Amino acid sequence: MANLDSIVSLCKRRGFIFPGSDVYGGFAGTWDFGPLGVMLKKNIIDTWWSYWVDKRDDIYGVDADIIMNPRTWLASGHTATFADPLIECKACHGRFRADKLAQGLNEHVTDGEFTRLHVKCPTCGQEAWGPIRMFNMMFKTHVGPVDGDESIAYLRPETAQGIFVNYRNVIDSCYPDIPFGIAQQGKAFRNEISPRDYILRDRECTQMEIEYFVHPDTWETEFEQLLKETDTFLEKEMGLSVEKINHVEVAEKDRAHYSKRTIDFMFQYPNGEEELMGLAYRTDFDLRNIEHESGKSMEYRDKVTGESFVPHVIEPSIGVERLFLAVISDNWDEEKGILHLPENLAPYKFCVSPLLKNKPELVKKAEEVYKLLKDKYTFVTWDDSGNIGKRYRKQDEIGTPKCIVIDFDTLEDGTITVRDRDTAEQIRVKPEKL
Ligand code: GAP
Repeated sequence: MANLDSIVSLCKRRGFIFPGSDVYGGFAGTWDFGPLGVMLKKNIIDTWWSYWVDKRDDIYGVDADIIMNPRTWLASGHTATFADPLIECKACHGRFRADKLAQGLNEHVTDGEFTRLHVKCPTCGQEAWGPIRMFNMMFKTHVGPVDGDESIAYLRPETAQGIFVNYRNVIDSCYPDIPFGIAQQGKAFRNEISPRDYILRDRECTQMEIEYFVHPDTWETEFEQLLKETDTFLEKEMGLSVEKINHVEVAEKDRAHYSKRTIDFMFQYPNGEEELMGLAYRTDFDLRNIEHESGKSMEYRDKVTGESFVPHVIEPSIGVERLFLAVISDNWDEEKGILHLPENLAPYKFCVSPLLKNKPELVKKAEEVYKLLKDKYTFVTWDDSGNIGKRYRKQDEIGTPKCIVIDFDTLEDGTITVRDRDTAEQIRVKPEKL
């Protein structure tokens, strides 16, 4: 298993991930994706979208705004309950999530339970705690020119609600047969008390979520089906090692307020097992609350049976950053300096280079091959810096599956060398055969 420090260093050195606002010394809980990171992130999102939306007939896409009518968060329960237990050390004024300071606690931890554990402050070592307060994690902003209570709005803490508020519009515009899903990917914001573990707990993250609407009587079957499809996505499309994924049935006391069953997909990250994603049965909680708040019916009328009912919902929800770190850490061979990314995710599929930069005949031929590939695929890069060994090392580190080199034999017989990233094996082929 790769070491987290070595991954952080690789990501910075090769332009995958930089600390947010780096030039000003960073900004807690924020991370920026660099040129290579943006390509890998886009490949992850595109693969997710293709798997769940493009290749299916039953899932529709939406792209809702980040700032939504604040009534959304009243209806969803976020205004009242989207909070973590905050505790302050009276000696050093450090603020922490109480449930993360000791083993076996959950977010409903009480002052009594906490006191009995005699937890020491991780910063100053004292045991001088104030009372636990619930801290709402939604980021507030003001909409319009007036800064009053009336103008308060929130940056969405989950993309899911952008789907629920469009459920009626999708039915009225696309007439889907039940079961059907609505998918959305985009930014979500959480004012985490203690952002941590590199990109695993950020204040700004990218979610990919599906709300799958089913008849209430069929939720168990549909849940099992989505569980299988999620496993296939993680293993086949993302290439994650099966043995690093662990399904955990979440106990009732630990489930989100809206869920009657949740499976957390845990992943073996460099610093231990952490939640990668969740699959939750949200019942009719959201649609019923929207009915109540908006006064509009959320009933679905079955075209065949004529039955009208409020659908129940199953939600596979995953954060792109957590998936990104799972993909990188699962594929980084620290010893050999090779990032064994699956081909569909690798930022570049080919790197083309002339053996020597100062031989115009080699450069000319290499440019022809580069153009041949670039016209067909966008994911091709050019490298003529340093010597060939150095170029291979760089491409291995950024996960380029094939390096193509134009050398003196190319001028003789027209063949080029294709070197494989994982085996370092080299074969000679004609460029047209690529
Ligand atoms: N709509 C349901 C929902 O938002 P969640 O368990 O709070 O449920 C779903 O979040 C997923 O989003 C998580 O499993 C994780 O992959 C990602 N996620 C949530 N908070 C995150 C954060 N602060 N930083 C990075 N990813 C996060």
